[in-house]
Amino acid sequence: MRLQKFIAECGIASRRSAEKIIESGRVYVNGQLVDYMGFVVDEENDVVELDGRVIKPQVKKHYIMLNKPKNYVTTVSDDLGRPTVMNLVTDINARIYPVGRLDFDTTGLLIMTNDGDFANILTHPRHVVNKSYIARIDKPLDESQLERLRSGVELDGVMTAPAKAENIKRPQKGFEVKITIHEGRNRQVRRMLESVGVNVMSLKRISIGSLTLGNLPEGKWRRLSDAEIDKLRGKGK
Ligand code: URA
Repeated sequence: MRLQKFIAECGIASRRSAEKIIESGRVYVNGQLVDYMGFVVDEENDVVELDGRVIKPQVKKHYIMLNKPKNYVTTVSDDLGRPTVMNLVTDINARIYPVGRLDFDTTGLLIMTNDGDFANILTHPRHVVNKSYIARIDKPLDESQLERLRSGVELDGVMTAPAKAENIKRPQKGFEVKITIHEGRNRQVRRMLESVGVNVMSLKRISIGSLTLGNLPEGKWRRLSDAEIDKLRGKGK
């Protein structure tokens, strides 16, 4: 790529002004002054400096939500050759990746992005982000089971943080519980429910922080709006 285009893609100046910047002797490539037109940059390997600071092209950021179906792994690749969620978002031309994990057999809301800072806000334990799930279970939970979930249960010798838990009354769907947690321990919701004595038949994530799955069909994705992104970042209402 030509040097003036490279500078423009760093978001510093238009191509025309980048030419002037080059001619004024402010640009070095790999430590060598380049003050003439026609220089071609190897974007992967060359180090370009403007006024003594290294500059890099801006990568467009993508933020999407996917309704993950069953039988997909939430990793970029899988040693066992199972389908991954990457197979469902082939039309995005960037290296996006899943934020956090859902089990192979869990469905529902999965955020994917190529913005590492954003992913960190959603996954770092320092930022408490509530995640809600609907589990289909084999029998309804009684008050004492709900209370145990609400005060936290012991998994692998360590207590979980208190959860929100309530039975959902949709008789045509069998027995369901809505459970909200902010930790991300391995198979946490399934194990919490099993620890109070019920079997989980299916599990679906319906929200992450302020973001809800809505009626996005299984296997489909959509871009997040700016307002949704800001709310997840903790800015705006
Ligand atoms: N808890 C689980 O048990 N499974 C998931 O996929 C997510 C949370």
